[in-house]
Formats: sequence, structure tokens, C-alpha cells
Amino acid sequence: MHVTRLSLTDFRSYPAVEIELVPGATALVGPNGQGKTNLVEAVGYVAALSSHRVATDAPLIRLGCRRAVVRAGVSRAGRQILVELEIVSGAANRARVNRAPVPRTRDVLGLLRTVSFAPEDLTLVKGDPDGRRRFLDDLLVARAPRFAGVRSDYERVLKQRNTLLKSIKQGKGDIRTLDVWDDQLAAVGAELLAGRRYLVHLLAPYVTEAYREVAGGQGDALIEYRGSLGPEILADPRPGRDALRAHLLEAMARRRPVELERQVSLVGPHRDDLVLQLGPFPAKGFASHGESWSYALALRLGSYQLLRADIGPDGDGEPVLILDDVFAELDSGRRDRLAALVKDAEQVLVTAAVPEDVPEVLSGDRIRVGQGEALRVDR
Ligand SMILES: Nc1ncnc2c1ncn2[C@@H]1O[C@H](COP(=O)(O)OP(=O)(O)OP(=O)(O)O)[C@@H](O)[C@H]1O
Ligand SMILES: [Mg+2]
Repeated sequence: MHVTRLSLTDFRSYPAVEIELVPGATALVGPNGQGKTNLVEAVGYVAALSSHRVATDAPLIRLGCRRAVVRAGVSRAGRQILVELEIVSGAANRARVNRAPVPRTRDVLGLLRTVSFAPEDLTLVKGDPDGRRRFLDDLLVARAPRFAGVRSDYERVLKQRNTLLKSIKQGKGDIRTLDVWDDQLAAVGAELLAGRRYLVHLLAPYVTEAYREVAGGQGDALIEYRGSLGPEILADPRPGRDALRAHLLEAMARRRPVELERQVSLVGPHRDDLVLQLGPFPAKGFASHGESWSYALALRLGSYQLLRADIGPDGDGEPVLILDDVFAELDSGRRDRLAALVKDAEQVLVTAAVPEDVPEVLSGDRIRVGQGEALRVDR
């Protein structure tokens, strides 16, 4: 699939902008702070309904405005789809597909698939587990949009259970209600856990392969899901949901006294991590800056290859690849290898501050970004 047109109103720095996009490589070039990332962020938003840069939607709305609109034309298996999203401050967002309103914005998920790689992704390797959990959950939703519901159900149940733990400690809550929330947390948690674990099982070989290709064969990258449950359940890449649920319940029962004392839920997928191993060492704390970069890139390229391999008989279409400010950070060997790896993507959007940072094989279409405008450069 590919994006054919992007139009923004009051999104980030843009009062209004519109660009036409073509399949193949497009380079968005312009000085720092001119709005290149804002454009590709909008594309990613249409796919994920969230931005990799921020946790909430508020910063996406242009300062002083009440709402932002993102419109994207998507070409998919020969069909044209128009997705329109309205991001509203202090109210629910709205979505339309081919001009018809959809019941829930979430229904838009799955229409466009993107994989983005940006400098911030270094925190996937160097940062805390929550970034890696988000990475997994985003990919889970990209592969199977119904997980968006599972994920938000889980967050809601977790929040309510934590509130209850606090009020029990204050002598206000009823401890019998906790059993109800334990059941809920275990049921939804097992579903999320099963999804994540199977995803890591599928993704791992792609990441290993991508790391080899990007880093030029130095060391092996192995990823592994680390859960709060025991090793016996973790040994099975595809444990049944019932088994996971029973394990979660059992673990919650065991940790209940500590949870009541600390007033937080200590068992469940919100405590888990994705372990990134590089050769004999964990990447975090051991990998060099360049190796960490390659690792982060391998996680994204691996995701891209996994999504690409998912394409069903009904022709879901390849995801759109977004490389935001990536090439300036890489040495020439890695730069060339990365360019060679992605040059055949159905669509790849590359941003760079200077044209020299865009490898020759990716310099197909060029858009100059500056002073609130994004204009195609005739070459
Ligand atoms: N909600 C907003 N309202 C108005 N302006 C915003 C908003 N969010 C971000 N901006 C502005 O957008 C600009 C940043 O745009 P963007 O991140 O796309 O730049 P860039 O071209 O990618 O730069 P770089 O090369 O440094 O990565 C900043 O000047 C910032 O102030
Ligand atoms: Mg940028």
C-alpha cells in the first residue's frame, strides 16, 4: 500500500498543507524545525492513531487551535481509500472513511500500515521497559487491530484495580471486590500476554536477520519476552490463554499481601519487558552507541519485514516505511546497507536536513519543506 496524498489542517506547525505522494522513495528535505517530522508524524498517526513522539494528542493540534484535521489518501490493492481524522482538544476524536463517519475512530486501524524509524527509537534499546512494551503493543495492533481494544481494556482494568488497592489501604475499599478485579486483570492480561509472546516468537528471527544486515555481521541480536511469570510458562512460545490466565491468578494470589502494602498491581503484562540480547550481553548497558542504533533500527526493520510477510491472499499491501532523520546518524557502511535494504519498499518516506544525507538510491521524489510549505522539487 502507499499514501497518495496527505492534507493537514492545524496539525502541529501547519495551518494548512497538502502534498501528493508517489510510490517508491520520497525525500523530504529542509532545515531543522521546518516541519519535516510533522508531516511523516501525520502519516504515522493515520496508521496508529497515536504519535511516536508524544503520549497524548494535545501537542498535535496547532498552538491556539481547538482541532486538527489529517486527511490521507491510501492506495491499497488497487483501491483508493480516503481516511479523515479530526483530533479534537478536550473531546472525542472523529474519523471518516471515504467520507462516511465510522462508529469509533479505532475502526480506522488497519487501513494504513506504517513502520517508522526515528532517532527517538534509541530509547527502545537504552531506555526503560515501558518503551519496549509500547513497541510490542503497537506492532500487535498493526498486525491485528482488535488488540487496540484489548490494550485499552487492560489499561482500564489496571487503573481501577490500583485505585481499589489504594482505597483498601485507606480502609475504604472492600477486599472482596479485589477478587473481581483479579479475574478481569487475569482474563484481559492473558489475552495481551498471549498476543505479545506469540508476536515476539514471530518477530525474533526477523530482528536477528535485520541486525546482521545493518551491522554487517557483528554479533547476534536476540530478542526475548521476559514476563513476571515463571520460566516453565515462558518456555512455550504459544501457551494457551487459559493457562496464562491461571498463572496470572495464581501469581496475584501469591503477591496479594505485598500489593496491598504497596498499593500497586505487581503482576501482569504491564510489568514485563522485551530483553534485547547482543551476543552474550544485554544490549542495554553493554552495547556501544552505534550498536544500540543498529539494534533499534533492526527492531524497526524486523517489524517491517514481519508485516510485509503477513500480507494475506486478499493483498493487504506492504506497510509504508518512514525513516525520519536516520541517515545523518549512520556511518557510510551502515548508511549504504540500510539504503540497499529499503530501496525496494513499495513506499519509503525519508526526511533529512540536507540533501547530501539522502543516499542516492533513495533520492527518487523530492519535497522541499520550509516556511510552512512542502513543495515538490523538479529534478
Ligand atoms: N502543536 C504545535 N503548534 C505549533 N507549532 C508546533 C506544534 N508542535 C510542533 N510545532 C513546531 O514544529 C516545529 C518542528 O517541526 P518538525 O519536528 O517537523 O521539524 P523538522 O523539520 O523535523 O526538524 P529537524 O530537522 O530538527 O528534525 C517546531 O518549530 C515546533 O515549534
Ligand atoms: Mg525532524
